[in-house]
Amino acid sequence: MSYEILLGNCIDILEKSNREIDFTFLDPPFNQQKDYALHNDDMPEQEYWNMVKKVCRSIYKITNKGGCIYFMQREKNTEFVLQTLRETGWNFQNLIIWKKRTSAVPVKGKYGKQYQIIVYAIKGERAKTFHRLRIDPELPLNYKYQRDNGIFVTDVWDDIRELTSGYFAGDEALRTDNGERFHKQQAPLALLLRMILTSTNIGDTILDPFAGTGTTAVTAIQTQRYSIAIEIDPKNIECIKNRLKSIRDADNIQKYYKDYTCTENLREIWSNESEIVQKQKQEELTLFNAAG
Ligand SMILES: C[S@@+](CC[C@H](N)C(=O)[O-])C[C@H]1O[C@@H](n2cnc3c(N)ncnc32)[C@H](O)[C@@H]1O
Repeated sequence: MSYEILLGNCIDILEKSNREIDFTFLDPPFNQQKDYALHNDDMPEQEYWNMVKKVCRSIYKITNKGGCIYFMQREKNTEFVLQTLRETGWNFQNLIIWKKRTSAVPVKGKYGKQYQIIVYAIKGERAKTFHRLRIDPELPLNYKYQRDNGIFVTDVWDDIRELTSGYFAGDEALRTDNGERFHKQQAPLALLLRMILTSTNIGDTILDPFAGTGTTAVTAIQTQRYSIAIEIDPKNIECIKNRLKSIRDADNIQKYYKDYTCTENLREIWSNESEIVQKQKQEELTLFNAAG
């Protein structure tokens, strides 16, 4: 089995866990009065950050030396995220700006908001894995020369679209029968793919304690990483199971392979599709032979 899906409160599950983790994507509810079936998204600030701190501390304990956490939050909470990570032992590496390729949220009396933050931090002094990915985005207007070999990914990610509401969310956004989005906070696969390719190797163990629709797991299994997804809402757990049982076309990450072909060791960190299919067939054959 290449994944585990755990129903329950991640605070309790992580406190008791003795797993060894290499990578965590932390995308908790943002405490902004959203409607969650089994979570109060309107806690007093202090209570909310105490809860997040508990989770960060538990993850730190079970993370292998040099392993990492990517903690996503609203930009207005940056100082709390940095403080929480510092106080739970994590070593800050980057403040990633995810500029979401969507219209800015208008705000009166100050600039409109157009990005979210992802803080990347590690356990210990050095990251045990950090693959420097290369991408080849469109040249800015008036650039004369094509690049020979793309550019390294930096701490500003402006090439990944958020799955916003309605039509613009596209096929990747899961929907209910009446066309509504199943989960308003579903993260894009491309976002997870970038973090996973950068900070893990094939076979590493990836944790998502607030798994939602299971975007992390869907990305992890397609890149041959082991995935642990925790989610408190049974409806979401069903969704994750279905999403993993058979990967939808819209969830197939092969479409992003071409975006990273300038990366020197891409084949080492991301086997291509035919290799994965071949391996699955081999595994099936082995099981079949063993059963016979
Ligand atoms: C921001 S959403 C995550 C979305 C996810 N990244 C995705 O791509 O679908 C946060 C999720 O955490 C879940 N949740 C809230 N409190 C939890 C807890 N204590 N333990 C586990 N899951 C929790 C919510 O039900 C919600 O689905």
